[in-house]
Parts: sequence; structure tokens; C-alpha cells
Amino acid sequence: MASTAWFTITPPSFYSKPTTLNRPFFTIRCNAHNPPKTQQDPLAVYSSVKAFAPATVANLGPGFDFLGCAVDGIGDTVSVKVDPDVHPGEIFISDISGQSPNIHKLSKNPLWNCAGIAAIEAMKMLGIRSVGLSLSLEKGLPLGSGLGSSAASAAAAAVAVNEIFGKRLSVDDLVLACLKSEEKVSGYHADNVAPSIMGGFVLISNYEPLELVRLKFPPEKELYFVLVTPEFEAPTKKMRAALPLEIGMPHHVWNCSQAGALVAGVLQGDLFMLGKALSSDKIVEPKRAPLIPGMDAVKKAAIEAGAYGCTISGAGPTAVAVTDNEEKGRLIGEQMVRAFQKDGNLKASANVKQLDRLGARLLSGIRAN
Ligand code: HSE
Repeated sequence: MASTAWFTITPPSFYSKPTTLNRPFFTIRCNAHNPPKTQQDPLAVYSSVKAFAPATVANLGPGFDFLGCAVDGIGDTVSVKVDPDVHPGEIFISDISGQSPNIHKLSKNPLWNCAGIAAIEAMKMLGIRSVGLSLSLEKGLPLGSGLGSSAASAAAAAVAVNEIFGKRLSVDDLVLACLKSEEKVSGYHADNVAPSIMGGFVLISNYEPLELVRLKFPPEKELYFVLVTPEFEAPTKKMRAALPLEIGMPHHVWNCSQAGALVAGVLQGDLFMLGKALSSDKIVEPKRAPLIPGMDAVKKAAIEAGAYGCTISGAGPTAVAVTDNEEKGRLIGEQMVRAFQKDGNLKASANVKQLDRLGARLLSGIRAN
């Protein structure tokens, strides 16, 4: 008979790190995640695996905390192996590598590392108690850039652990494992982790319980993201603290209509509608843009250079613009870089990327004997 376990999920830590005062306010009843003590752990299918998870653009303008998409070619990689030297049921972080200038800020304590937290959650959900794992993290993404760096680490780690034990966790489980990590480092929001796990565009239609909707962008349509990242740090916690606690009805109506238009633009592959909606946020972007030197000028430069739309990617400081052609994307990127330099006195680099439709995935694995 299946045992019953109660998992508590703390409320959205919108403005601050969760504290003991933020009491859990709802529970998910879950039979599968905590098997009875007598039941054996799932067997490792692989002795080691390597998984990749893509970068993401969260919010997409008016979709604060409920819309996001994955972009191809950039992301984080996590390798996980079964390690007899690691205490059963635990994770050891053996290595963190990458080019990000502040990579030293990442903790090797798995309880304070995005990849570590998500890996531990995935292990708990799988009921792993007799095997220890060691994990190494290759950061392809800069930290605090607005490209879902922490989410990509978490997503790659959760997927790697799940692969080792035969892919027993569902997509929702993986996202919930990663949400534990996001909650600890920046806030309870899935608009980075869900698209990083699932690929494509994702709508989070509910958090309690979690409900995720894939928004299919027509495969025959061209879509390029121009991602311009300045040398400037915008910690998500700080950028969330700048947001209003309440908004007026006119802004609510406006942003809802624009989020609806954005979803329609995605589903119809209508870049004009998508871009216009992307540029239209009247609630979050106006509070954050002044905290990123040059952002208003960068947005203006992107539109003048022919982008369909432009906004802040996630909590920033990366600016994201959309277009339908790679070459046009490069030219738009040049203008945006110039604007960051001229108006913000910030050096910036541009990347032109397409939609990642796959999400986090196994790159390689060595089968267990
Ligand atoms: N929705 C989150 C925010 C994403 O804007 O704070 C953080 O990357």
C-alpha cells in the first residue's frame, strides 16, 4: 500500500527571502514522492550523466511571474554521478566552473546552491536513500544577468538526477524541485524554471497547485531574440523589492489585455502582436528600467532599429528585443549595445538566439552495470 506524505510548499516569497514567519499555507498530497521505508530505492539506470538546460527570458513584458520562454544555444550544464564516497541520500558538489566574473559567489554547499537544492529535491521526490551523488556544474550563463542563470542550473541538476534513476519524475515534479531552489535564491516564481525544463513558451496559469501550459509557437515561423547584456548586476531580490505592493485597476486592465495579446501573438506566430505586447508592460518595467542605466534608451534604440518589441529580460539587466531575421537581429543588437554605452555608460554584448523548443535534456550518460 502506498504511504502518504505531506509536502509543504511555502507561499510565494514575493518581496523577501522566506523566513520562519512565512508559514506554509498549502500542501500537496503526494503518494509517490515518499515511498515507505521498506520499499527499495529506484535503481540507478546510469552511473553518470551530463544534462543541459537552456537560458530563459522570464516575464516577456506584461507576464510578470507567469510567462517565459527558453532560448537556444546558451545555458548551464550539470554532470552527476553515483558516488560511493558520498553519504547515501546526499549530494556533494565537486566542482563549479565557468567564465562568469562572479562565479566565486556560488556556494559549494548543496543547501545554498541552485543546482544542489534542485538535485536534493529531486532525490527526495524519487525516494533515494541508499545512494549518494556527486555533482559538477558548468555555468554557461552569467550570474544575475536576467537570463535565468539560477533556473538553468537547477533545471539541469533536476533533470540529471531524474535521468540517473530512470526518468520517474514528471515535468511538474521537476519544475517543483526547481521551484524550491528559486524560492531560496530569488523568489517563488516558475517563469524561468518551467521554460528551462520544458522548452518553448510556457504560461504558468496557477501556482497552487502548479499548472503549466505550453504555448506552441508555429514551427514554420521565424523568431529571433536579441539579448543584450550589459556589465552590470541586477540581483533579482533587489529588482523584486522595487515593485509596488498594489496596483490600480487601469494598470491591471492594461497589463492583462497585453498579456492576452502576447499569448495570442505567440500562438498565431504573429510577431507584430507579440512584439507590441512585449513592449507594453506598465507595472514592472517602469519601476525596474530606471535601476538599469541606459535601459530606456536601449529599448528606444531597438524599436528604432526595427525590432518588433523590446523589454527587460527577467529581472534584468539584459534587454531582450524580438525580430524575424538573424541579420536584422545583429544590427538591432549593435544599436542596443551602442545605447547602453552612450546612455548608461555600460559595456554590453549582444547575442541573437532562436527559441529553444526542447528544454532541459540529457547530453550523455554511462549506463550502470
Ligand atoms: N519573474 C521574475 C522577476 C523573473 O521578474 O522577478 C526573475 O528572473
